[in-house]
Amino acid sequence: MKLLEQIKKRRSIRKYQDRQIPLEDLEKIIEAGTYASNAGGGQRSMIIGIRNRELVERLGMWNMMRFDRSRLIGSYVSKEQPSVIDDQTIKSGFYGAPSLCIVFAQKDFLFSIPDAFCCAQTMLMEAFDLGISSCIVSRAEETFDHEAGAKLLREWGVPENYIARCFVTLGYCEGEYPKAKPRKENRSKIIE
Ligand SMILES: Cc1cc2nc3c(=O)[nH]c(=O)nc-3n(C[C@H](O)[C@H](O)[C@H](O)COP(=O)(O)O)c2cc1C
Repeated sequence: MKLLEQIKKRRSIRKYQDRQIPLEDLEKIIEAGTYASNAGGGQRSMIIGIRNRELVERLGMWNMMRFDRSRLIGSYVSKEQPSVIDDQTIKSGFYGAPSLCIVFAQKDFLFSIPDAFCCAQTMLMEAFDLGISSCIVSRAEETFDHEAGAKLLREWGVPENYIARCFVTLGYCEGEYPKAKPRKENRSKIIE
């Protein structure tokens, strides 16, 4: 498939099959992330891949602990793939995905957040090419902002000056793969 076609077909998936993704595929997705565009060519972001369903589930609960729905009243994300905004019965911010990548970036760097999300988007496209579904999830800082979270980061060897910026859920889509919403008009212009 041509790249533009892939970009148009990829969707955020929030319903996953039980099946785990192969280790080689997780490695490729992480490798893609390390090649993402990054501020100043500094290659500052770091990725931790988790291929352990129970751990992903625990982190998914932490991701929801400080989720404040009240600020999002009136928002709607997806009918086919409801998000935690749409469906209050969803308990894990990672939607039961069997694997997860956590993108870390330097706390005190101006482009810390853009670097992390460029990295995440690049991983999404590699995952799509491999037939693996994904979703970017935010609230990463809050997910580890407690004693148990900090302890886990120490165990994983995450440097003190690094902070989790976002997640990429990974797995196989359960049910029909959704189509893109129609694009809003007047979002671009070419000046010659
Ligand atoms: C910065 C950013 C943060 C996001 N955070 C979440 C999130 O916390 N939870 C979630 O389910 N989806 C999250 N998403 C995925 C978006 O909801 C999704 O990309 C959007 O609805 C468009 O759908 P599509 O990716 O299928 O085109 C995030 C996406 C971006 C770019």
